[in-house]
Amino acid sequence: MTQLHPITECCSTLYGHPLAAFLMGDSFHPGGLGLTLELARAAGVSHGQRVLDAGSGRGVSSVFLGETLGCRVTGLTIEAAGVAEGEAHATAQGVSERVAFVQGDIMDMPANLTAFDTVVMECVLSTLPNKHEALLRIRDVLKPGGTLAITDVTREGEVPEELEGVTAAALCLAGAISLIGYARAIEDAGFAVEEARDLPDTVGGFIDKARNGLMLAEIAVGLGKLDVPATTLEPAKRAVKAARGLASDGRLGYALLVARALTAT
Ligand SMILES: C[S@@+](CC[C@H](N)C(=O)[O-])C[C@H]1O[C@@H](n2cnc3c(N)ncnc32)[C@H](O)[C@@H]1O
Repeated sequence: MTQLHPITECCSTLYGHPLAAFLMGDSFHPGGLGLTLELARAAGVSHGQRVLDAGSGRGVSSVFLGETLGCRVTGLTIEAAGVAEGEAHATAQGVSERVAFVQGDIMDMPANLTAFDTVVMECVLSTLPNKHEALLRIRDVLKPGGTLAITDVTREGEVPEELEGVTAAALCLAGAISLIGYARAIEDAGFAVEEARDLPDTVGGFIDKARNGLMLAEIAVGLGKLDVPATTLEPAKRAVKAARGLASDGRLGYALLVARALTAT
């Protein structure tokens, strides 16, 4: 695998961290599986289609899509643990014949990943430093006319100090851009954007969930039930507070985009 950018590495390490699972549950994106279904429907995902879940994390969305819509899903993730967890979850849900997992890097796509009907990216494009290159790699693995389906964090303006570094990466803020910025990047990579809309309240709900999770995490650490250094909780609380402020000011949001890969002329 190629050398990972620090933000990508940080994001991938954090998503395997016990505190992340404690705060967010299994689905590591705002809106949870309800939004996964909304996105798949907006993209027209149907029974038997081949879907790539690029940046599949713990594989929860991949399994959910295979189970709910009957599509054939490949989950691609950087973490070996994500592959193992995804496979175990697919087996437990009885969909392992149509939901598989591959360890790999979106920026250096495994050669056998080709001709997908749809690529789903939930809270992943924001974490990729070179969005243009990433979108070109995604376009390469789609069939001509295939669909790109994205939900992601949007950000207007600078990241405040409390949210810089590790915490910004954990909350997918460091590389997040505006809705218009995503739409332009997608079009520049050879797609026609068919739908691009803000999802009001989605990110606020996610932050509130993280804030409640932090309160529970503090209790669990105190009781010795969660193995996380107590010193990581204070900066996390400050970061969540700052993120809540940004969301309330409308500078932090969540968006859905659906685009069609244009055929080369
Ligand atoms: C915010 S998590 C979202 C996980 C999953 N899509 C979900 O919604 O539950 C971002 C995921 O993208 C993965 N990721 C980031 N950069 C990647 C890359 N270059 N190639 C493959 N996966 C990547 C991370 O490892 C992490 O699992």
